[in-house]
Amino acid sequence: MTDTALALADLDFDRYDHVRPIRWTGEALELLDQRLLPFSVVHEVCRSSDEVAEAIAKLVVRGAPAIGIAAAWGVVLAARSIEVTRAQTALHQLEPALQRLNAARPTAVNLMWALARMRRALATADGDWRAALEREAQAIEREDLAANRRMGALGAALLAPASGVLTHCNTGSLATAGFGTALGVIRAGVAAGRVARVFATETRPWNQGARLTVWELMQDGIDATLIADSAAAHLMKTGQVQWVVVGADRICANGDTANKIGTYQLAIAAKHHGVKVMVVAPSSTVDMATAAGDAIEIEERDPAELLSFRGERVVATGVRAWNPVFDVTPHALIDAIVTERGVVEQPDAARMRALFG
Ligand code: MRU
Repeated sequence: MTDTALALADLDFDRYDHVRPIRWTGEALELLDQRLLPFSVVHEVCRSSDEVAEAIAKLVVRGAPAIGIAAAWGVVLAARSIEVTRAQTALHQLEPALQRLNAARPTAVNLMWALARMRRALATADGDWRAALEREAQAIEREDLAANRRMGALGAALLAPASGVLTHCNTGSLATAGFGTALGVIRAGVAAGRVARVFATETRPWNQGARLTVWELMQDGIDATLIADSAAAHLMKTGQVQWVVVGADRICANGDTANKIGTYQLAIAAKHHGVKVMVVAPSSTVDMATAAGDAIEIEERDPAELLSFRGERVVATGVRAWNPVFDVTPHALIDAIVTERGVVEQPDAARMRALFG
């Protein structure tokens, strides 16, 4: 384990971080609708936990940490719909709403982690339990932003000056409370002069890279080049990238990592070309209860996401499609896992245990 970070004080965090996907108004949860970006910047207003669960399932809000934060606010909304005075009774009555939030998406462990935190906050609340839930949701959001900044400093320290990086999906402010995980490392790397070239994959079929990542970087004045997913190995061969920097939806006890579909093939191509692979995720994404990647449930979404583009069918009628939206990268293909608690280099079960118990 290493713990070398760029000096936090030297990084101008706000300069490169302008987008926020989640706003709590005190009455409702406003979610920047990521289905409509980059051409429409519209917020969907959720006033109940079921509306939040639906927004998570439909990818209005997405990205593992952002899903967890939205779910925590969903619990705050659920608490407003029941009329009980005792926290213990509330715990019982809120459980169905929590279960529906939990079922919204299966792969990102942050969702169940955030709900477990909310349950604990309720179980230990004395006095105003609704206020305790609101404080906990705020804490989850605040801690995520702080973790991302810390990971940015830790991850950027691994990059040699003027490196080229390739990222996949969207792991930025849009996917978190702000700053981002892998994109946070890239932000910090740009701020510190460690990153000279940023490449982002389209990330078919939902195009998180094409619609979200390069837009988000543009808001922050960070130059990035979009590539087709299928151009990644060729890009590596040109020598323009030294690191693949990605996020995670679940990191197992042995370091195996579930992330957006296509991460696995990027890691294989990286190994072949001597390009390093960095996974960046808060400790809320680490799931020490799951021994290895085979046990992770991989979300499969509607094949229509593959068969159509912006609602218009582009594939012949009658063609079938298979749409798994995550894959698992074996730990042997990962050079470093960066969390706010520290960096695990060449991760395996023993090294993961040393940091996460
Ligand atoms: O389906 P999505 O867009 O929610 O998938 C997101 C990813 O796979 C991200 O890489 C991951 O959640 C990390 S986000 C900081």
